Amino acid sequence: MNGKERRLRRILNPETGRSLVLAVDHGMALGPMTGIVDIKATLRQLDATGKVDCWLMTKGIYNHAYAPAGDPGVILRASGGATIAGPELTREGQTATVEEALHLAVDAVATSAFVGSPYEHETLIGMAHLSSECRKWDMPLLGVIGLGKTNEDKKKDPKFIALGARVGAEHGADIIKTYYTETDFDKVVAGCPVPIMIAGGPKCETDLDTLKMIHGALQGGAKGIVMGRNVWQSPYPVALLTAVHGLIHKNLNVDEAAELLAHEKNT
Ligand code: 5RP
Repeated sequence: MNGKERRLRRILNPETGRSLVLAVDHGMALGPMTGIVDIKATLRQLDATGKVDCWLMTKGIYNHAYAPAGDPGVILRASGGATIAGPELTREGQTATVEEALHLAVDAVATSAFVGSPYEHETLIGMAHLSSECRKWDMPLLGVIGLGKTNEDKKKDPKFIALGARVGAEHGADIIKTYYTETDFDKVVAGCPVPIMIAGGPKCETDLDTLKMIHGALQGGAKGIVMGRNVWQSPYPVALLTAVHGLIHKNLNVDEAAELLAHEKNT
């Protein structure tokens, strides 16, 4: 087993081949937001469940707010440098090195590429360069495929999402994070040679909608989630996390997961 395989085993559960990754890296671009204003409290509450396989966070949060109860995996967000107050959210550059990731003993690094955006070229070249650095150290790379404002309407277009996923893999990502398309998601998965995990996007109307989205993605061949708002902005984040864990690692169907959610809400 080489270093990359060992690190990947701390992200993708070796028994199920899937992963429940909670993303808490939003503050780097969006500032404090509902659910992660007190990020230490959110991390403490959700980590204590033991249901999180891995976290996605920036070095700032890792260094100043993260104190896990157990020993979950960590993916270090290594791109950023753009905020909602600035001119262009897709203008991300590298914000952490593989050396830093090794120093922090994390299990992977993540970088965004915004396919179809004005910064498509810069962000894809950034992904390719980081993947070369990762390769030297057997560090896995999570490719976060973003769309940017101009392509927001293509979020559910399987052809466009398949393009982004494939492009990310071709630029060196070992795992792709992208959006669930509802239709033809199996085709998105089929066209991508590395595991795909889905982001959630803005909060769904109900927790049941979140469960349906995750179940649909798993049925289509996704290897799990790298999700944030839909979990920690839920009125019952711990109960929802337990139900999501059931979908991902226990193969529950939507009804079973909804039942588990209802049960957990009352405990
Ligand atoms: C924020 C991100 C998030 O990691 C990603 O979008 C997942 O979170 P959510 O499920 O809330 O969309 O890239 O910069």
